[in-house]
Order: sequence, then C-alpha cells, then structure tokens
Amino acid sequence: MTIFNATTENIERATQCLKNGGLVAFPTETVYGLGADASNPDAVKHIFTAKNRPENHPLIVHLASFEQFDLWAQDIPESAFKLAEYFFPSPLALILKKRPEVSEVVTGGQKTIALRVPNHPVALELLRTFGGGIAAPSANRFCRISPTQAQHVADELGESVDMILDGGACQIGVESTILDLSGDNPTLLRFGQITRSELESVLKTEVFVPDSLSKITVKTAGMMAIHYAPTTPAVCCGNDLLPVFLLAWEDKKIGVLTCGSNIPFTPNRTVISLPVDSVIYAQNLYAKLRELDALKLDLILVEQPPKNEMWDAINDRLSKATSSVYD
Ligand code: TXA
Ligand code: MG
Repeated sequence: MTIFNATTENIERATQCLKNGGLVAFPTETVYGLGADASNPDAVKHIFTAKNRPENHPLIVHLASFEQFDLWAQDIPESAFKLAEYFFPSPLALILKKRPEVSEVVTGGQKTIALRVPNHPVALELLRTFGGGIAAPSANRFCRISPTQAQHVADELGESVDMILDGGACQIGVESTILDLSGDNPTLLRFGQITRSELESVLKTEVFVPDSLSKITVKTAGMMAIHYAPTTPAVCCGNDLLPVFLLAWEDKKIGVLTCGSNIPFTPNRTVISLPVDSVIYAQNLYAKLRELDALKLDLILVEQPPKNEMWDAINDRLSKATSSVYD
C-alpha cells in the first residue's frame, strides 16, 4: 500500500478517488480516519468491510464547515450553534437528528447522525476540495487501537484502502469528544480532549454522562467494554502496585508503560516512559501501545495515570485497552 504525502496534487487525487467510490485514509487532529463519500451508500459499505466493523455501528460524517450541517441534520438546536461558534473546527462530534434523505447505511440504522468539522489542515483541504461529507471512522480494524500515523493505517488495513494521505503524527492522539444533542439533555457519549466542563461552560447547562452501558440505547463502538485493545494481554495498575506485578511477572516478557514512575530495565522487561502531562501522554499513547504490542510480550503493564478531568479521555481508553484495572 502506497502512502502519499499530503500535497495539493495528492489531495486532488484523493478527492477523485472518493468521488469514484474509493476509500481514502486521511489525517485528522485526533486519529487517522478511513473516509468514503458519505452520500454514496456503496462506498460507505466498503468501510465496514475494510474494518470488519458491524454494520449497525454508526459513522461520523466529516464536513468542511458548520454551515453544511443542515444538509445532513434537521432541527439543529441552539446549543449546536453555540458550540460550533466557540469550538469549530475541533475534536468535537455532535449527534443530531438526521435528515430523512441521509442513508441509514451511514448512521448504522439510527435516526441520528454524528457530524464533525476536524481541525487539521489536510482534512480540511480534502473536505473543501471534495465539497461533500466524508464518512470516516478511525482507520483501524474493528476493536483495535486507532492509528495516529500513516504507517499504522497501512499496517492495519493494507490493500483494503485505496489511498493513504500522510499528514504526519496526529496532534491529539485520542478520538473526538462525542456529545449527543438529539435528546432533551446534552449527553456526553465519549470523552475526548474537549472536556465536560468546557462544554458546560459554553452551554451554561449541565452535560450528562451516562454511568453505565445499560443506559445507552444506541450502539456506540466507543462505549463497548473491549475496544481500542492491543492483542497482548494488558493490565492497568496504580504505581503502588507496580512493584508487586513486576515481581509476580519477573520471569515473563513484560512491557511497562509508565506515567511518572522510574522502573529499572531488566533483560525481560521493555519500559516505555510517558510524562505526567495529559497532552503529551495522549499524543503518544496509541503509538506506544502499538510498539509494545508488536514485541509479542506476555503482558503489557500500564501505570495508572492521574484521575482528573484532563485525563478522562486517556483513562477511558486505557480502561478499554486493558482487561483489568488494579488500583
Ligand atoms: O476523532 C474521531 O472522531 C475519529 C476521526 C477519524 O474523526 N473518528 C472516530 O470514528 O473515532 P469511530 O467510528 O471510530 O467512532 C465514532 C463513534 C462510534 O463509537 C460510533 O458508534 C459513534 O461515534 N456514533 C456515530 N454516530 C452515532 C450516532 N448517531 N449515535 C451515537 N453514536 C454514534
Ligand atoms: Mg474507532
């Protein structure tokens, strides 16, 4: 699979590819997306096949500007206008009531649709050149770690994608915040870089966070218990328990992803250190998990990062990437 530099010429080529019903992987500020023409149901179906994703998992439609939202959504509430004015373009996807003519292939059978304006120059240039909506989930195989570099996409999807546009490493590194505005109350469906308090301060109203899966009626891949997972068994534990785990697994091949702690190297042990800085941590998390996963270790041990709002998105992804959390 050839990776193309995101030059104007290659963005034009990618646009033609999308218009012909092809699949184009492209960088966004969060993670790489696997894009198809959102108005072409046959093209969108290829996304599900390439990812091996169940067809009832709805996709996010990416648009060049908020002005295009009413081509896809109806009854757009005032709150969406406020958020768009304050945040867009940004890592924030809004769930709105879809227009009847929008194919349910895109929305996985839902009457609602996720829309977002990504804040990345390559994504925006592609969207502007293309003109329409680009349906794009993260460009990984279903239930695997999202790609934050072009090479990750090639490793994940190989020949099933027609073109990969390389825009370097993603700045944010975890997927967008998803806010559902289709019901009576704004509800946070996925944590991302834009936090609940930031949303609340712009909306001047409470944002609800469902406390259990059972309360969610919509199939949201990001809400599944096992998601974003490496193939190596992974556990997360507090720094006080790190020495206990290291001792218990002394004779196993183990990878440790630290957040602040100093862990000595041993022949059996690969240590990757990330700083106690949520921005840098998020930028690197998926790439480092991928690196550790490729080493075919017996176990990946992740040191529990701090637990405050700045770390919500990271802790959410870690709880899904690891089978158990010991804290
Ligand atoms: O940061 C991102 O949002 C990346 C980049 C590529 O834009 N995209 C991404 O897409 O993470 P994906 O498909 O991996 O995750 C989208 C999430 C899924 O969990 C999906 O179920 C949810 O959005 N979603 C989409 N439409 C929805 C809807 N109508 N109602 C509820 N959840 C929805
Ligand atoms: Mg995904």
